[in-house]
Amino acid sequence: MTWLITGGAGYIGAHVARAMAAEGERVLVLDDLSAGVPGRLPESVPLVQGSARDGELLKRVFAEHAVTGVVHLAARKQVGESVAQPTRYYLDNVGGLATLLDAVAGAGIGRFVFSSSAAVYGNPDTDLITEGTPCAPMSPYGETKLAGEWLVRAAGRAHGIATVCLRYFNVAGAARPELADTGVFNVVPMVFDRLTRGEAPRIFGDDYPTPDGTCVRDYIHVADLADAHLAAARRLAGGARGDLTVNIGRGEGVSVRELVTIIGEVTGDRTPAVVEPRRPGDAPRAVASSALAERELGWHARHGVREMVESAWLGWRLHHPEADLG
Ligand SMILES: NC(=O)c1ccc[n+]([C@@H]2O[C@H](COP(=O)([O-])OP(=O)(O)OC[C@H]3O[C@@H](n4cnc5c(N)ncnc54)[C@H](O)[C@@H]3O)[C@@H](O)[C@H]2O)c1
Repeated sequence: MTWLITGGAGYIGAHVARAMAAEGERVLVLDDLSAGVPGRLPESVPLVQGSARDGELLKRVFAEHAVTGVVHLAARKQVGESVAQPTRYYLDNVGGLATLLDAVAGAGIGRFVFSSSAAVYGNPDTDLITEGTPCAPMSPYGETKLAGEWLVRAAGRAHGIATVCLRYFNVAGAARPELADTGVFNVVPMVFDRLTRGEAPRIFGDDYPTPDGTCVRDYIHVADLADAHLAAARRLAGGARGDLTVNIGRGEGVSVRELVTIIGEVTGDRTPAVVEPRRPGDAPRAVASSALAERELGWHARHGVREMVESAWLGWRLHHPEADLG
C-alpha cells in the first residue's frame, strides 16, 4: 500500500503521517501549506505542495507514486469562519472532496479514510453519543463534514471504494512539542493564549445542566487520534469492504472548569477564570461512546487529559518563548 495523506503538514495530519510511517506504512503528503508546516514532517515522508482540489495534480500524483489509499484531512475547520463564509466552506470541504473522490475513482484507488468531526451531531440530548445518534450540525462547518460523509459513502458504493469516516471529538496535545497545534481555535490553546497575555481564562456559561454548570467535552490526545487512522488504514488494507463511520473519543466527559483547573496546575498559573455569557451553539455535553471504534478498529485511547495538557503546554512554550507563567 502507498497512502496519500492530504493536509498531512497540518496539526493532526503530521501526527498521522508520522504514526503511519513509524509503523512501516509507505506514506506521502499533499498539502497546499495554507496552514501546514513542512518542518512537521520527517525527511522520509515526501511532501507534494499543491491543492487537494486540483484534479490534474491528483491524477499525476496518484500515478507517479502508485497511490493505493487516501487519508483525507485537508479542510477548512473554523466554525465561526464557516458561519461568515458558508460558500467557501462548501466549496472547499464538499466541492473539493468531490474532485478528490472523482480522481480516486478514476485512478482505481479502493481505500479512503475521511476526517469527520463530532460537529456533525450538533447538540444531542444524550449521555453518550453513539454513531446512531441523529446528526443535526449547528454550523456550516459541521454541515460540510456531514455532507462529506454522505459523499464519501455514496462514492464508495458507486465505485467500490472501501471507506472509513472518523468522527473526532475534541483534539488536544502533541506527540512532540514541534508538532503542537499553532492555531488558537480550540479551548486548550485559547486558555494558554489568555494566560500568556496575562489575562484570565474565559468560561462561556456556567449555568448549563451539567455537574458544575460548565460545558462537558470529550478530549482526545492527537497521538491516540493518529493511531486511530493507522487502525483504519490497516482495516482497509486488510481487505475490509463497505463503509464504517466511527466516533474517536475517550468516552469520558471533562468540564471546561475541570480543564481550566488542570491547565492551571500544569502551567503553574492559577488565575481564576472569568465567566462570560454562553456562546450560541455550544452543546452542554458532547461525550462519545467509543465502543464501536474498539470493536471495529481494535482501537482505544491511551492518554488522559493531563497528558494532553502537559504535552500541549510544552509545544506552546516552544512556539511562544515569552510564555513564562507560574
Ligand atoms: N483540530 C480539531 O480539533 C479537529 C476536530 C475535528 C475534525 N478535525 C478535522 O481534522 C482535519 C485536520 O485538522 P487540523 O486541526 O490538523 O487542521 P490544520 O489546519 O492544522 O490542517 C489542515 C491542513 O490541510 C491543509 N489544506 C487545507 N486545504 C487544503 C487543500 N485544498 N489542499 C491541500 N491541503 C490543504 C492545510 O495547509 C493544513 O496543513 C480537518 O479536516 C478538520 O476539519 C479537526
